[in-house]
Amino acid sequence: MKNTPIPYDVVKQKIEESGLQKVGKASIREIVKLVSDIEAATGLKYVRMEMGVPGLEPSKIGIEAEIKALNSGVAQFYPIIDGIPPLKKEISRFVKNFINIDVDEKSCIPTVGSMQGGMAAFLVANRCNAKKDTVLFIDPGFPVQKQQLKVLGMKHETFDVYKFRGEKLEEKLESYLKKGNISTILYSNPNNPSWICFSEQELEIIGRLANKYDVIVIEDLAYFAMDFRKDLSVPGKPPYQVTVANYTDNWIMLISSSKAFSYAGQRIGSMVISDKLYRRKYPDLKNFFASDEFGRAMVYGAIYALSSGTTHSAQYGLAAMLKAANDGDFNFVEAVKVYGERAHIMKKLFTENGFKIVYDMDEDEPLADGFYFTISYPGLSGEDLIEELIYHGISAISLGITGSERTEGLRACVSQTHESQFADLEYRLKKFSENNPIK
Ligand SMILES: Cc1ncc(COP(=O)(O)O)c(C=O)c1O
Repeated sequence: MKNTPIPYDVVKQKIEESGLQKVGKASIREIVKLVSDIEAATGLKYVRMEMGVPGLEPSKIGIEAEIKALNSGVAQFYPIIDGIPPLKKEISRFVKNFINIDVDEKSCIPTVGSMQGGMAAFLVANRCNAKKDTVLFIDPGFPVQKQQLKVLGMKHETFDVYKFRGEKLEEKLESYLKKGNISTILYSNPNNPSWICFSEQELEIIGRLANKYDVIVIEDLAYFAMDFRKDLSVPGKPPYQVTVANYTDNWIMLISSSKAFSYAGQRIGSMVISDKLYRRKYPDLKNFFASDEFGRAMVYGAIYALSSGTTHSAQYGLAAMLKAANDGDFNFVEAVKVYGERAHIMKKLFTENGFKIVYDMDEDEPLADGFYFTISYPGLSGEDLIEELIYHGISAISLGITGSERTEGLRACVSQTHESQFADLEYRLKKFSENNPIK
């Protein structure tokens, strides 16, 4: 029996009771359950890095605006399906102030999180042309989006961008697009799980090829402005959040409020459609929607059918936070910078104890410190690494479930690890490296 920070026999027993064939193959929620069970049995707290939940309190600005809206009676009424006017106005201002892209208020639509934004985007973008019925993921990525396509009975293709950074992206991307079946390209930037951030060169390639092959880019900005290497916090001043919208008009942006505004519980995000795409007519949309206009099909077809709009009070909450950010009264980036600071220290603790960072560079620039980072350990597969870490009081998920080819790697999320746990983390990693000497 090994000398591990969490009693070996209890962990072993809980793994057996979980019925999991292999801990390293478990889904995020299964790991959450296993670790919670071990914590309850031992009274010991894990360094929990398996789930991407925001670990910070949201600003009072949003909460107070929601309370005010509820007190004024909005709960009684259905919200306007394409969003309340003050929110549409602030989303449009936000896109101009922080991305430097002009967009009509009409093209700014609240959704029930980016989760629903993605689902609605698939429902419309993947049906614009009957010959183009497949979504292409530039992976690694967020596994639930593939689950959404499965639920919808839609097809997808994917490749891991690890070996195709910079100019190499062009040939790889074109090898998919030239087949003629791809309707839509989706990626997140910064990327969940690897935290790579695309360069202007890479975005230019994606935008140019989207024009050449007439495909729609879904740019998932779930970690908006969280490339902390640059100060993206000043409204109306460069540098801005980078975007493919500088290179094509075929885009939809999904701007989640969950992480950048720590507002995950209220399930509200923003879908922003380029004005040109909003107005564009695709005759094949008539097979599914009353209108062949992209924007109308999105609002009165997809979003209406999915949820009839987004919670009324949450719209007021988000409108107030965006207004404060747009007016320069609320520095939302400063409020989440602590994730980058945590990542910096945690990456150091891991690498000092023999771990490697799997996705470590943006072309020739070291990766930013942010919400996630990726790790591997010499001589251990990803599956074995998760199991071994669980015995040492640390939890994470396998990159294997994210479309990454780097199956030796794990994704670690910093959001739930408070600074007060760093000493524990350091001790546990030391024990880990003693118990797993590198040959
Ligand atoms: C890449 C990515 N897209 C979308 C989402 C979902 O965001 P929301 O909470 O706004 O639905 C997440 C959440 O973790 C994410 O990581």
